[in-house]
Amino acid sequence: MELPRHIAIIMDGNGRWAKKRLLPRSAGHREGMKRMISLSEHAFDLGVKYVTLYALSCENLSRPQEELDGLFSLFRKYFSENIARLLQKGIRLKIIGDRSLLPPDIAALSRKGEEETAAGERGTLLLAIGYGARQELLAAVNAAVRGGRELSQAEFAALLSTDGIPDPDLLIRTGKEKRLSNFLLWQSAYTELYFSDKMFPAFTNADLDRAIENYAGRERRYGKI
Ligand code: IPE
Ligand code: IPE
Ligand code: MG
Repeated sequence: MELPRHIAIIMDGNGRWAKKRLLPRSAGHREGMKRMISLSEHAFDLGVKYVTLYALSCENLSRPQEELDGLFSLFRKYFSENIARLLQKGIRLKIIGDRSLLPPDIAALSRKGEEETAAGERGTLLLAIGYGARQELLAAVNAAVRGGRELSQAEFAALLSTDGIPDPDLLIRTGKEKRLSNFLLWQSAYTELYFSDKMFPAFTNADLDRAIENYAGRERRYGKI
């Protein structure tokens, strides 16, 4: 079975998952964090080389402060408790997104996590926090303008936060919505899309297997016949 080399996941539906259970939204984010760790490990165990997780968009930063504080506590917990495990499993961590939008201690923890896992060769975990594709593209355009000459596609791609990372083969969005919500707009030009009605905390490792199986049955033509 053809395995996607790079899987990207829009982890949506934490809030609705919690609401349905009469729990605070923060409980949904907590469960989501557990799922995120398990799903990414499962993907690497299957042999997937790159996993990108959309955890916080630039636009999410306008949510109420109380919700953001809860999310930031979870990120703190994630970086404090999981770096050793990534290291042990040979997974390199890479943050995509604008770290200056995050609380300074989280920016520092994430950088430390990247440094400590830099030698990981089994796979790369890209965590998108404070990420927005339009923001990323605009920064690249502005850098190109400063360079003062026209660029090739490869030169332009090298100005993006995903420099050196192959484009996603499979993009999964949980939580029922069918949209990209400002995620990897350049990189997903020929990505296979898979939408699940399940809320992210309910999306199991077996659901990921099903998405991969579905991907394996697709024919990627890239505009050719
Ligand atoms: C995804 O779940 C996590 C983040 C965007 C941080 P949501 O918080 O968007 O959950 P819903 O979409 O409101 O259910
Ligand atoms: C997308 O979910 C962003 C993340 C999962 C981090 P949103 O909940 O922010 O997306 P919209 O608002 O429904 O488009
Ligand atoms: Mg949402």
